[in-house]
Parts: sequence; structure tokens; C-alpha cells
Amino acid sequence: MIKVSGLEKEFKIMTHKSGMVGATKNLFSRKHTTVKAVADVNFEIQRGECVGYLGPNGAGKSTTIKMLTGILVPTRGSISVNGITPFENRKENAKQIGVVFGQRTQLWWDLPPIESFDLLGKIYKVPSSKLKKNIDNFIDILDLEKFLHTPVRKLSLGQKMRCELAAALLHDPEILYLDEPTIGLDVMAKDSIRQFLKKINEEDKVTILLTTHDLDDVESLCKRVMVIDNGKLIHDDSIASLKGRFGNYKNLELDLENDEEVHLPVGCELVRRDGKKIMVEFNTDIIKAPELITNLAGKHSLIDLSVHERPIEEVIKRIYQTEV
Ligand SMILES: Nc1ncnc2c1ncn2[C@@H]1O[C@H](COP(=O)(O)OP(=O)(O)OP(=O)(O)O)[C@@H](O)[C@H]1O
Ligand SMILES: [Mg+2]
Repeated sequence: MIKVSGLEKEFKIMTHKSGMVGATKNLFSRKHTTVKAVADVNFEIQRGECVGYLGPNGAGKSTTIKMLTGILVPTRGSISVNGITPFENRKENAKQIGVVFGQRTQLWWDLPPIESFDLLGKIYKVPSSKLKKNIDNFIDILDLEKFLHTPVRKLSLGQKMRCELAAALLHDPEILYLDEPTIGLDVMAKDSIRQFLKKINEEDKVTILLTTHDLDDVESLCKRVMVIDNGKLIHDDSIASLKGRFGNYKNLELDLENDEEVHLPVGCELVRRDGKKIMVEFNTDIIKAPELITNLAGKHSLIDLSVHERPIEEVIKRIYQTEV
């Protein structure tokens, strides 16, 4: 459905010299450097998939999404979305995609959401009976009723995001691109957005590409994760394989009775220490949890302990550290 090959995007940035002398020089020289925001990215996404797109700040995620939507023209490489090349045929492509940029709005700031929905319906030429049906459906499942007639500028972030999602889906697109849809939302608001996305992905088979810094979004929605760093794809596989990629690590959290020095057995590493609270990371291929706990309990007086899966954030941090 989506096929991306050898995709690259370079930005030319003017280099400015600072100070008075520099400012004069800037007038005469047109020096620029090239930033490669996306470098030789290849992937395919099948109909009905929900794919997480992760990476640190500046990795190239938004640039990729902008090329997929047709807003940006690639420097090299090709994109085909159902046979359409987005930047050559932006209008045709717009009919099959919905886009939500968490940092921007496609709703009119001074209008209530319901009026934005009507306008967007007209722009996308959605037949009026179909539009009404879709709006009613989104009012129902996204619980928009209470603020449908309030100007968008007066809505909370979570309310606004629910309206953004409805707005992006009014024309029944097959594909939904989401660039940080849960940014700045509280736990409850995040959860309702996730449930909604899960529903449209599973029931309506909307294909989703989701960019986020919130790994809980990915863990609750996506079977597949792509990780980009410095413009290059460094992982494209299941979440399980992302977690398993650096051995089987777990974390042990300990509350000690005393503030003494702790000697850890082989296969363990101290992650952090805050007085009597310590966090240890251990490799389960070398030492199993019961063995580690017995070892430590023999040497120290323990008040409390808990064992956790290594959070996916740490797995990704490791990929960044080892592969860049
Ligand atoms: N219009 C632009 N002009 C120049 N450089 C740009 C432009 N847009 C993006 N870049 C650069 O391209 C790189 C990738 O940016 P991009 O916005 O794709 O990152 P990102 O992965 O979305 O990061 P974030 O998590 O912070 O949103 C960065 O180095 C950025 O500074
Ligand atoms: Mg971004």
C-alpha cells in the first residue's frame, strides 16, 4: 500500500557568521551547509497495519511524514501510496490520507469544531449525507458533544486533539498519518485517543503510521516499530524483537534497610542509586531473578523489591548508543 524506496531529503541551511564583521560577510557570501534529514530510507506498509515511527529529536520523523503527505518533495528516492506519488499528485493523495500534526491544527481557531467539520467536508467534497453520518459517529465515539459549539481556541488540549482526529477522518481516508498526536496530553486523554485509534485500526482497517515519543502509545497500538536516527532507519521489526535485540534484560528495584555499599554479582549493573533505593539492570541469560535476589538478600537487609521488564525507552537508548 505504501512503498518507500531510497528516500532522501536534504535541507540547505545558510551559514551565518556572527558579529559585525560576520554580518558584513554574510552580505557577500552565500555559504550554506547541507543537512541530510532523511537518508536512504526504505520500507513498505501493508493495508491495515499500525506502525510506530520512533526516534530522538531531529531524527527525521516529521520530514518523512511530510514527504508521505506530499507537503515536501524528496531530494532522492520514490514514494508510492496506492500507486500515487504524493508530491506529484498532492490532491489525489489527499483523498486517501488523513493527517494529524500534534503541534499544529487544521481546525479554524475562532470557529467551533462543528463548523470546521462542515467546511472540511466541503473542501474534501464529502457527500452531505455521508458527512453527517461520519460527524455523528465521531461525536459519539470521541465524545465531542459538550464542546461542539465552543470556539477551538477555548478547548483543552485533549478536547482539541479529539476534534483533530475527527477532522482528519471525515473523508474516510484509508491511511492516517499521526505526528505526535498525544503530545502534552494527560494520562486519561492519552488513553481515550489510544482506544479510538485502536478501534479505527482494528474495526475500520485504517492503516496508521504513528510518530511519537511516548512509548506507551506504541506498546498499546503497534505490532511493528520502525526506529529512525540521524535520518537512517536502524530498526524495522516487532516490538518484541526491539526489546530482545540486546539480550534479555530486566530491572530490579531494591529498598535497602541501610545506606551501605552494594556489591553486585556478574551480569548486573547499577543503573541508579538514591540513598537506600537502588535500581539494578541484569541480564537474564547470565543470572536469573531468583538467583540475584537470593544473592543480594544474603548480603543485605532488604525492605522491599520488585522486578520489571526493561522499559522500551532504555532499549531504544541502547540502540542509539551502540549503532550511531
Ligand atoms: N525546513 C527545514 N529546513 C532546514 N532543516 C530542517 C527543516 N525541517 C527539518 N530540518 C532538519 O531536519 C532534521 C530532521 O527534522 P525532523 O523535524 O524530521 O525531526 P523529527 O524526527 O521529527 O524530530 P522531533 O522529534 O524533534 O519532532 C533536523 O536536523 C531538522 O533541523
Ligand atoms: Mg517531529
